[in-house]
Amino acid sequence: MLKRLWLWLGRLLGKLVLVLAVVGLVGWGAGEAYYAWKFSGPVSSEEQIPSAEAALTRAIIEDAVRVVEQHRDNTRVLRDAHAKAHGCVKGDVQVLDGLDSDLRQGVLAEPGKTWQAWIRFSNGNAYPQFDSARDARGMAVKLLDVPGEKLMPGAAHAGEQDFVMFNHPTFFVSDVAEYRNNFAAQADGKKVLAFFPSWDPRTWEIRHLIIALKTLAPAPESPVSTTYNSIAPYKLGPLNIKYRVVPAPQNCPTYALPQANTDLPNFLRSALYQQLSLDRIPACFELQVQKQNAQHYMPIEDTSVQWSETISPFQSVARITIAAQDFDSREQNQFCDNLSFNPWHALEAHRPIGGINRLRKAVYEAVSAYRHERNASAQAQAPEGSGL
Ligand code: HEM
Repeated sequence: MLKRLWLWLGRLLGKLVLVLAVVGLVGWGAGEAYYAWKFSGPVSSEEQIPSAEAALTRAIIEDAVRVVEQHRDNTRVLRDAHAKAHGCVKGDVQVLDGLDSDLRQGVLAEPGKTWQAWIRFSNGNAYPQFDSARDARGMAVKLLDVPGEKLMPGAAHAGEQDFVMFNHPTFFVSDVAEYRNNFAAQADGKKVLAFFPSWDPRTWEIRHLIIALKTLAPAPESPVSTTYNSIAPYKLGPLNIKYRVVPAPQNCPTYALPQANTDLPNFLRSALYQQLSLDRIPACFELQVQKQNAQHYMPIEDTSVQWSETISPFQSVARITIAAQDFDSREQNQFCDNLSFNPWHALEAHRPIGGINRLRKAVYEAVSAYRHERNASAQAQAPEGSGL
């Protein structure tokens, strides 16, 4: 009797698994077919700015300042995103010889030209956590002494051309309106629910939830061993492009990082220190660009869509070399904390485009100004002997 019951239960479970697998496969196939249809055909090569964008941007800044305040680290106010640095290092960026004439724009205009740069590696979270926590990893590059008028007026960043990236090719929202809703929900402590704004299944953003989950990935073995993407599009002279920075070990001496103890909270900083400061081995990357082909679905106003590399492959345009160096001093870490990277610290030839980039202009500026102001007053009020 008991045996028959077990057999019956087993058969039932088997059928259930089969039905679930079939439903899953059909759902996945339908999703693939739907997006292949939705993400096909030509797109605009111009920006399209919705009328509500300015008001939404103001609301996002209010939420961002609220998050910064929530994550205050004792006396210092940290960045609202990418708060934890693995190190700020000096690098040089050399423009490749023989670039096609349409790519020779802005800082890429002169073949062989070498720019000095500060490079900050970071974890994406608003709060500094253990490096073993799933997260995005950021790389921000600031070219120095770049002549020419910049998109953001003011002397403070007059000579700077920034490239600001993280190591996933797509963003978890399409545009400013969706960012507003999602960020407001997240600031209220909702995580997954932020992607399900109402009971109406038409408002559910399952594809974007999957992007968010994939973005929060395990750490690479070192900050210099992963690919960093612009995700959002930019001008390159007359072209619309995305850019990325890929590790290029072939340009550097062969090096194998010793096995790290990934239980240590800051093992990514340790990996950088091990390679650059102890073993004195440089790290190499290449800067690459991908041109928009507007005959295909390579949109400017949707950062959740990856541009097809089959249709438009990335091309290398510059070499980035991070020489062996000592970077992990108190002074340099503090200097690094006080740097501001912003995709709008840029020449007209590298203008950021698309809704998410337009939003970043106002938000980065506001959050950076806020934390600098707060940190300056915290320092002024610091009691004697506090070390500040
Ligand atoms: C294409 C998508 C994005 C990428 C690749 C990106 C990447 C980065 C990186 C790497 C940093 C750290 C820069 C540093 O080292 O100082 C950063 C900082 C920051 N990001 Fe983003 N981000 C993106 C979108 C956004 C959006 C949509 C917002 C909010 C509207 C945002 C808000 C911020 C803020 C407030 C900071 C700190 C700025 C500061 O205090 O200096 N980011 N981002």
